[in-house]
Amino acid sequence: MSVCLSGIGSELPDQVISNQDLEKMVETQDEWIRTRTGICERRQAPSELASSDLGTAAALKALQTAGLEPSEIDAIIVATSTPDMFFPSTACVIQQNLAALNAFAYDLSAACAGFLFALSNGSQYVENGVCRNVLVVGVDLMTRILDFQDRNTCVLFGDGAGAVVLSASPQNHKKKGVLGTRLASDGRFGDILKVPAGGSRMPLTEETLPLRRQYIHMNGNEVFRMAIRAMEQTALDLMNDSGIPLSSVDWLVPHQANLRIIDTLGKRLQIPSSRVFINLQHYGNMSAASIPVALDEAWRSRKIGPEQLVLMVAFGGGLTWGASLLRWTLPWSNPEESPEQTDN
Ligand code: ACO
Repeated sequence: MSVCLSGIGSELPDQVISNQDLEKMVETQDEWIRTRTGICERRQAPSELASSDLGTAAALKALQTAGLEPSEIDAIIVATSTPDMFFPSTACVIQQNLAALNAFAYDLSAACAGFLFALSNGSQYVENGVCRNVLVVGVDLMTRILDFQDRNTCVLFGDGAGAVVLSASPQNHKKKGVLGTRLASDGRFGDILKVPAGGSRMPLTEETLPLRRQYIHMNGNEVFRMAIRAMEQTALDLMNDSGIPLSSVDWLVPHQANLRIIDTLGKRLQIPSSRVFINLQHYGNMSAASIPVALDEAWRSRKIGPEQLVLMVAFGGGLTWGASLLRWTLPWSNPEESPEQTDN
């Protein structure tokens, strides 16, 4: 059975935090943030919303484009590093919100690469005939795990959610939908990007809270160096597996963490910047949400359309990374449904 993309949607909080806003919180400058990262602003969810709320809103839009009822979904997989709570899973909360009661549901943890891990899981259920329709959600409220006293990290991240529906393709031919995926991990380098406290290793207590270890800790230079090398190699390996030349890729949709990482990756893969989709200037790094939000914006702004070949590449804490190749199966979006941002 081949797997097609039958629905897509995203949800972003209204509140914008600009670089100038951050200048009032930490010793930083708009110019530093823009030149080192490409980020101008990011979104922050209000305190009453959790990951499941944004995830549910994105999922509803994805179901709407797919023309499916929640009862027709067989599985819900949520990639997140910021679940509502340890359990129940955010996927089960979204299931309840949607009343998608015929689905099994679980969360998956692969940091910024989580969406591609979940996409791979979901497409295998469809390919193997276990499910007809799978909802895959990437959601992160990164501002909930940011230390707004640490300028090394707090300028980089933002909140958002994206969702896709994967369905069994009516025409059973292999040239459409999810064409292939490569996933990789290297736990030896887990220390360079982590949230040390809040789990079983260092539970939150009166003693641990003042240490501020419940927030992201990162060695930015190491991450930078390893991200480029890993994403380049995994993209090349995937294209090699597929037998399709890189020159046939219509769009590179990379994880949106840092413009310099993306530019270097595009150059190394020899994909011209006109074919690299970038929206991080508006949202910063939304971790597992970054790729599905980018896909949704690219589709709604009529950049990505039917039959186009889309290469997605991601890298994150763990370390985890991967690439996925997609032949776009949704029709051109309705031009009246304008996207939030269209200046790529
Ligand atoms: N504002 C002003 N100055 C800052 C800030 C800030 N927000 N943050 C750091 N600096 C300072 C540093 O303290 C340092 O000062 P010093 O030289 O006096 O010690 C100086 O700027 C240079 O710091 P570097 O770390 O060398 O700056 P670099 O050019 O490497 O950029 C950055 C840092 C942006 C974090 C970069 O390394 C990066 O993007 N790494 C990837 C991190 C990432 O994207 N992580 C997300 C998860 S993984 C992923 O998604 C790929």
